[in-house]
Amino acid sequence: MSNASNDTAAQKRLAGETAIRYVEEGAVVGVGTGSTVAYFIDALATVKERIRGAVSSSEQSTAQLRKHGIEVLDLNATGPLALYVDGADECDPHKRLIKGGGAALTREKIVAEASAKFVCIIDASKRVDVLGRFPLPIEVIPMARSLVGREIVALGGNPVWRDGVVTDNGNWIIDVHGWQIADPVALERELNQIPGVVAVGLFARRPADVVLVGDREM
Ligand code: 5RP
Repeated sequence: MSNASNDTAAQKRLAGETAIRYVEEGAVVGVGTGSTVAYFIDALATVKERIRGAVSSSEQSTAQLRKHGIEVLDLNATGPLALYVDGADECDPHKRLIKGGGAALTREKIVAEASAKFVCIIDASKRVDVLGRFPLPIEVIPMARSLVGREIVALGGNPVWRDGVVTDNGNWIIDVHGWQIADPVALERELNQIPGVVAVGLFARRPADVVLVGDREM
């Protein structure tokens, strides 16, 4: 591994471990998806006797949680959560995010919305001034792929189908290249109007509350 990727992995681990500070006694913890969250789940396992369980945002995280003996609960049964911990692909100075590199954006958005506090855990490479360098993931109903693609072109984006990827919800992902997203709240709202769009990987209307870059709060 190069020094840079060593450093990235170390920051991800540190962020995942630091996020444990936000876990309260007896809590049901909302858990995101990705390599940074994998460190958080490993850390959560060390305090598993002190929590009631977790609500998971993906089959991948569910498998890791269960492997550690952490109970995975249904969001419909738990009601609102105090805490959601998840990674991101990009984060701007207002804690608005691009997420969905791991294709889990829809469930991530649901659990984030249901949570009082969203702690986002990243390494420094994810920080940007303006969102859009990372292609924006959009989950779509399969039959609407071309329709949504045309609408995106009309909005000045370059849509690329993530061929071969099927989400946990049975849908497809379009990654939009070439956008410098000056107003993420407005773009999120506009994209959500297109029929066939299930979820947009912009977390702008509901940004993170706390961002941990390694062990430091941004
Ligand atoms: C998955 C996500 C992840 O949080 C995002 O892709 C960051 O992943 P990683 O921690 O592996 O860099 O949004 O859908």
